Amino acid sequence: MSPFLLTRTLPEDATTAALRADVLHGLTRTPKTLPPKWFYDTRGSELFEEITRLPEYYPTRAEREILAERAPEIAAATGARTLVELGSGSSEKTRFLLDALPSLHSYVPVDVSESALNGAAEALLADHPDLNVHALIADFTHGPTLPVTPGPRLVAFLGGTIGNLLPDERALFLRSVRAMLDPGDFLLLGTDLVKDEAVLVRAYDDAAGVTAEFNKNVLAVLARELGADVDPGDFDHVARWDRDNEWIEMRLRARSALTVKIPELDLVVPFEQGEELRTEVSAKFRQDGVRTELAAAGMDLTHWWTDGEGRFALSLATAS
Ligand code: SAH
Ligand code: AVI
Repeated sequence: MSPFLLTRTLPEDATTAALRADVLHGLTRTPKTLPPKWFYDTRGSELFEEITRLPEYYPTRAEREILAERAPEIAAATGARTLVELGSGSSEKTRFLLDALPSLHSYVPVDVSESALNGAAEALLADHPDLNVHALIADFTHGPTLPVTPGPRLVAFLGGTIGNLLPDERALFLRSVRAMLDPGDFLLLGTDLVKDEAVLVRAYDDAAGVTAEFNKNVLAVLARELGADVDPGDFDHVARWDRDNEWIEMRLRARSALTVKIPELDLVVPFEQGEELRTEVSAKFRQDGVRTELAAAGMDLTHWWTDGEGRFALSLATAS
């Protein structure tokens, strides 16, 4: 049997405390907002996996295409012995890297979703029985302490999840990633690219309504964790392209004037009819912007690969 370790870097009640703080902050300001990390309970992680298979949701397929083609080059350029993956989810696309890295010693998936980490490890270990898998339940924006493993280290952040951070959060996050890199280590970053508005909006407002269900799942999390008396049917799913910021915004729009009571926080949140709660931004990128943001965090872009249709990019970067 190969070693599998699951480490919770924070006590279980820290998650509830963080949720309470985010809800108090986000639902008492105008406009109302919630951070997207609260989508990902067991159901939310399942719904995200369903999204990745939707005909309209191209990013997963585009990134898989790049990884399938470029994994040998990535392996040759990095010679990684440890692969750290932030926001690893199901680790499904990661298999291309694991298969291509002949001297890989350790895989360190980092995610807030315990169910995703357990499912991913079980599936991976079946095919890579000699790999050391040390999973961390942690918030990747809080600079998780990584286990001591052999270098060089490749830190992968796939799926375009960096786009779910706001610009100032992104800058801080990239600096914390830079701090994880020793000389000779690498960052592999997946970014969705700016493209036709209709294609983008369809990817976040699919015909089968899976993304709408994913968006509303955050309300189920509030109901379960904080006793909120909220009915997902009282809200509509909204996906909108913000041309100035070049990001998709997901929102939940109140169908009528209503109040959401959250007894655990002693909070009553009024919504006007049509009022929107922002639940996620998903920024889309251009090569110059990625290069500039990496440089500002002390990293140099060394490789830029896209899929055949130019929809999605993978960047490889080193510490400057
Ligand atoms: N990398 C995978 C999954 C992307 S979905 C892919 O490309 O398909 C985003 C993942 O990031 C989810 O598994 C979610 O649980 C995790 N996540 C979101 N915010 C997080 C945070 N702040 N810290 C750690 N994990 C987070
Ligand atoms: C995880 N992340 C990159 C997804 C995205 O596309 O921004 C989350 C998502 N939201 C709606 N659909 C998928």
